[in-house]
Amino acid sequence: MKDVKGKVAFITGGASGMGLGMARAFAAASMKVMIADIEEGPAQKAVDELKAKGYEAACVKVDVTKLEDVQAAAKKTIETFGKVHVLCNNAGIAIGGKSETASMRNWHWVMDVNLWGVVHGLQVFMPLLKAHGEGGHVVNTASMAGMYGIRNSGPYNASKFAVVGITETMMGENRKTGIGISLMCPGVVNTNLGTSGRNRQEDYGGAVGDKESGLGALTNGLDPNIVGKLVLEAILDDQPYIFTDPALRNLVELRTKRILAGYDWADKAKALEGAVQSSALPG
Ligand SMILES: NC(=O)c1ccc[n+]([C@@H]2O[C@H](COP(=O)([O-])OP(=O)(O)OC[C@H]3O[C@@H](n4cnc5c(N)ncnc54)[C@H](O)[C@@H]3O)[C@@H](O)[C@H]2O)c1
Repeated sequence: MKDVKGKVAFITGGASGMGLGMARAFAAASMKVMIADIEEGPAQKAVDELKAKGYEAACVKVDVTKLEDVQAAAKKTIETFGKVHVLCNNAGIAIGGKSETASMRNWHWVMDVNLWGVVHGLQVFMPLLKAHGEGGHVVNTASMAGMYGIRNSGPYNASKFAVVGITETMMGENRKTGIGISLMCPGVVNTNLGTSGRNRQEDYGGAVGDKESGLGALTNGLDPNIVGKLVLEAILDDQPYIFTDPALRNLVELRTKRILAGYDWADKAKALEGAVQSSALPG
């Protein structure tokens, strides 16, 4: 999008951390902002802050694990602002633990919020972004945990690798739709993610203490308001990959090196000698 003035953004997890940073940056760029969050109090506080500065903002309570909540939030967004141009699928939670030992309820919780929350956002909002013909942009928040398998975070990594896969697929699918697609992979950002357990719903065992995230305090991380400005810049530049910490490129290089070593091995594997195959993937 070349011009965001007067355009409408819907941000999940917009009451805290990076989502709030986005809301602030977008509003300062004269966008209208709908903050969608499971935490009503902080969402309203964010709206009050933005309105006090003369910006246009509203909020809606949504649990992104529930499709009907996201549908109701979309209805409210259209009723409030008429259209929607920018979708930020940003709400997320973190849990620590190995894939084989994390509790099944935490496995389900992290996949339901971090993966299904994104899917719900896409299913409900993509038709709305395309409906008005004015163009739009989607920003899906994954993580560096979607670029590299961080130890002792199996379920969280799985949820974020899934978001990477969905978003990279959409980049190809939307080349000619007028909808820009960005994948954000933050490094460490100073947010409330370390206390994600505060939002664990009853279905997954209810609210739980700070230890569950395995993160500890993120106070040495990047200022989330800088991330908000970075996301705005990426939308204006139609930038597909948004990395918040350039120093972490070494992890992507390391992973790529390991993957390519797998191809080097396959080149010499006895079982593949003389094998005939198509080497063309579907699609
Ligand atoms: N902070 C980091 O270092 C870091 C790094 C990489 C990726 N991320 C990702 O960034 C995104 C934003 O997180 P953050 O770091 O700003 O944390 P945060 O806790 O400050 O903000 C997350 C927001 O999501 C909301 N939320 C949680 N569950 C929800 C649900 N079911 N429905 C709707 N809203 C819900 C929370 O209430 C909160 O406002 C997440 O997807 C997270 O995984 C964070």
